[in-house]
Amino acid sequence: MRGRERKGSDVIVVGGGAIGLACARALAARGRHVTVIDRGVRGGEATLAAGGMLSPLAESTGPGPFLDIGLASFALWPSFVEQIEEETGMSLDLRTNGKLLLALETEAAHALRARHDWAKRNGLDVRWLEGAALRGREPSVHPAAVCGVHIADDGQVDNRLLARALDVAARAAGCAVAVGEASGLLVESGAVRGVVTRDGADHPADLVVLAAGAWSGGMSGLPRPLPVRPVKGQMVALASPSPLSTAVETEGCYLIPRRGGSVWVGATSEDVGFSGGTTPDARDALRRAAAAAVPGLDGAPEIEAWDGFRPGTPDGLPILGPDPDLPGLIHATGHFRNGILLTPITAELVAGAADGAPDPRLAAFRPDRFPGG
Ligand code: GLY
Repeated sequence: MRGRERKGSDVIVVGGGAIGLACARALAARGRHVTVIDRGVRGGEATLAAGGMLSPLAESTGPGPFLDIGLASFALWPSFVEQIEEETGMSLDLRTNGKLLLALETEAAHALRARHDWAKRNGLDVRWLEGAALRGREPSVHPAAVCGVHIADDGQVDNRLLARALDVAARAAGCAVAVGEASGLLVESGAVRGVVTRDGADHPADLVVLAAGAWSGGMSGLPRPLPVRPVKGQMVALASPSPLSTAVETEGCYLIPRRGGSVWVGATSEDVGFSGGTTPDARDALRRAAAAAVPGLDGAPEIEAWDGFRPGTPDGLPILGPDPDLPGLIHATGHFRNGILLTPITAELVAGAADGAPDPRLAAFRPDRFPGG
């Protein structure tokens, strides 16, 4: 410990996004003394840039560990929000009224049919929609749209309010939140003993939860390279009298109706490292795709545009649970497109692992599953 006196936390959470703050809150509720270290973008990077969709099925390519954990986390959302709202007095605008997957062209319709069929075979609540049934559910979609599928287990939350509320809730649970750039793990006798920040300060702790999103792989002292890479997403918000009853996902974009008369349209998926900022081309493409799906959005004023970095992994699955080679390190990162959806379950899984009772579901998300890991 570089000869310094040990004091402070028994747990340090690296990263103050939704995942980090929810883990911190859950650990504090179990009696842990927790400090969150964050670079100062309170509420995190991906958390604030997200659209807030809770989409286990729409984000799945088939049955498997992601769908299982996504559905499990979706089921936790109502009680999770109820607790956070009670702890903070804030309203997070949780909606669990499903989503419409929409096909505008024949090719997309075939893909949608395949998705509908495997979902149905696996007992999921999906409904095929064409013609009047489609128009009846979402009258503002393009009249020439080919077909749609309504997914019941889907919804959205106001991710920006969530970021603020989790910050308040974590502090109310007794967590300290410190500004600093965690740059490495302190390792002593083969176990984690805390973190070091960019300014050279040591922060002792018996347990470190790594929840630094796209920046997680940059920590020194990890037992092996962590293959988390930034995948940039750009979004725009269009002024609109909110003609949609649920989120809609279609060719080239998804549309999320928000409180206050806007529709958020996302998102690009770009492998450009940490090169931030929005581009006119991407914003135009999103606006065009939105208007192709919902003609009423043609020419709608753009009221905001932003970007952020998803923490991508080689297999698209998060990296979760205790490190098998470095006692004292728990991973909570690599959530890619689904950090908001997976926030409640990640907090539960991390808290369980910290108590020495790792959930068997963590097996699919092991940090050493990658080749060479
Ligand atoms: N969750 C959707 C996205 O990351 O674009």
